[in-house]
Amino acid sequence: EETQHGGLRTPIVAVLGHVDHGKTSLLDKIRGSTVIEGEAGAITQHIGATAVPLDVVGEVAGSLVDPSEFDLPGLLFIDTPGHHSFTTLRSRGGALADIAILVVDVNDGFQPQTEEAIKILADSQTPFVVAANKVDTIPGWQVHEDTPIQQTLDAQSDRVEQQFNEKLYEIIGELSDAGFTSDFYWRVQDFRSNVGVVPVSAMTGEGVPDLLAVLMGLAQRYMKEDMAIDVQGPGAGTVLEVKEERGFGTTLDVILYDGTVRADDTIVVGGVNGPIVTDVRALLKPRPLAEIRTESRFEKVDEIAAAAGVKIAAPDLDDAIAGAPVRAVRGRDLDDVIADVQEELAEVAVDTGEEGVVVKADTLGSLEAMANAMEEAEIPIMRAEVGDIAPRDVAMATTVDEEEYRAILGFNVDTLGDADDRAEQDDVQVFRSDVIYQLVEEYEGFVEDIER
Ligand code: GTP
Ligand code: MG
Repeated sequence: EETQHGGLRTPIVAVLGHVDHGKTSLLDKIRGSTVIEGEAGAITQHIGATAVPLDVVGEVAGSLVDPSEFDLPGLLFIDTPGHHSFTTLRSRGGALADIAILVVDVNDGFQPQTEEAIKILADSQTPFVVAANKVDTIPGWQVHEDTPIQQTLDAQSDRVEQQFNEKLYEIIGELSDAGFTSDFYWRVQDFRSNVGVVPVSAMTGEGVPDLLAVLMGLAQRYMKEDMAIDVQGPGAGTVLEVKEERGFGTTLDVILYDGTVRADDTIVVGGVNGPIVTDVRALLKPRPLAEIRTESRFEKVDEIAAAAGVKIAAPDLDDAIAGAPVRAVRGRDLDDVIADVQEELAEVAVDTGEEGVVVKADTLGSLEAMANAMEEAEIPIMRAEVGDIAPRDVAMATTVDEEEYRAILGFNVDTLGDADDRAEQDDVQVFRSDVIYQLVEEYEGFVEDIER
C-alpha cells in the first residue's frame, strides 16, 4: 500500500485558492507528468484526493528531491473546487490538512476567496506555501517545460524578469497585509515563521519541481512526528461530502487521517441530530480510468489505511453532515466512541441566544468559520445549523423583537421550497454568499441602513 511507509502516514496537502486560479490544473499537471496507473509507484486516485508516492515526487522534482533523504511515503493532495468550501476540511481540534498550498494567480493577485483561505489557514494554524501560478502568462515568457523555476528564470529576458519580480512582490505585499511575512521560497530559512512563495505554471510545469520539493521538505522537517500513527488502529476521518450513489444509496466521501477502516466495521458518524451508528456495507475506491467503462466506477476493498480518501456505503446516512467526524468502533466500547463523536460535534456547537440572526452553512467546518467571524463582528446568533435555508428558518427569524435580527445569513447554501417568497412576505432579510466576510459586511450594511 503506497500510503504506508515505516509506520508514517502520508501528509495531507490541501490545495486552496480563488476560483480559476489553477488548483485543479496544478494537480492535473502533477498527475499527468508521470507513469500510468498500475505501474509500480504510480499515482493513485482516491475519493476526493490524489496520492503521489515518494518515488514519483522524486521523478517530478528531479534534482530538487533525493527520495533517499525522506522517509515519508509521499503526499496526499486534496483539491477544493471553488464552489465547495474547504472549511469542510476540519478534524478534531483543527485542520484536516497537515499543509496547504494557497494558489494565487499572478495576474489577479489576492481575491475574496484567497483572503478567506488565508484567514482560515491562520485560524487553524495550518502551515502553507503560496504557489504564485500562471507565470507563463507574463508577456514574452519563454517556456521551458517542467523545469525548476531558477533554470527557466535564468533564460528569460531582463524585461520579463522585471515583470516577474513586480508581480511576485505584489503577492508578497498582499501576504504582508494579511499578516504574513513571506519571501521567494529559496530565501526562506524557517518555513514556520515565513511563508515560502513558489512561482509556478500549472500549464507548463515550470516551478512544479520546486513546489514538490518545498512541500516534501516542510513535511519531513516539521511534521514527521504527527505522521507516526497506529496504521492498524480503528480509523478516524472527516466527511468531505454526503452523496447519493447509484446502487449504493447515500454514501460518505471520507478523508481518513488515522488508522484503518474495514468493510466489516461498525462506524459512528456525526449527523444533524447527533451521532449516527451504522455498519459499513462497502468501502469503495475509484477504479483506474481504463476500467471505468467495463463496469462500475468503483472497486470494493476490504480495508483502507490512512491517509486516504474512500467512499463509505452504509445504511442510515441521510442525516450525516459534511465536515463531521467518522470513527470506526472496532474493539472499543460503542458508547465511548459515540461520546467521542458527540464531543467533537460539540466543539463546533455555536453559542446561541434568544435574540440574534439565523445562520445556515453547507458544512460543519463552514458553520464553525461563520460563527467565528460573527463573534468577531459581535453579531449575536439565535440559531446556527448545517443545511439549506428552509421555510422554517424564515419562521424562526420572524420570532425576534429587534428588526436588525430579522435576518438569515447563508454560507454556500441554497433556499428550499418557498423560503424566498416567505422571507419577502414576512420581511425577513436573506443574505447568501460563498465568501464569509462578504456575508458579514452585507449584513452590517443592512444594520447601518436600519439605524440611519
Ligand atoms: P475552480 O476549481 O473553479 O475553483 O478553479 P481552479 O482553481 O481549479 O482552476 P483551474 O485549474 O480549473 O484553472 C482555471 C483556468 O486557468 C483554466 O482555463 C486553466 O487552463 C487556466 N490555468 C491554470 N493554470 C494555468 C497556468 O499556469 N497558466 C495558464 N496560462 N493558464 C492556467
Ligand atoms: Mg478546480
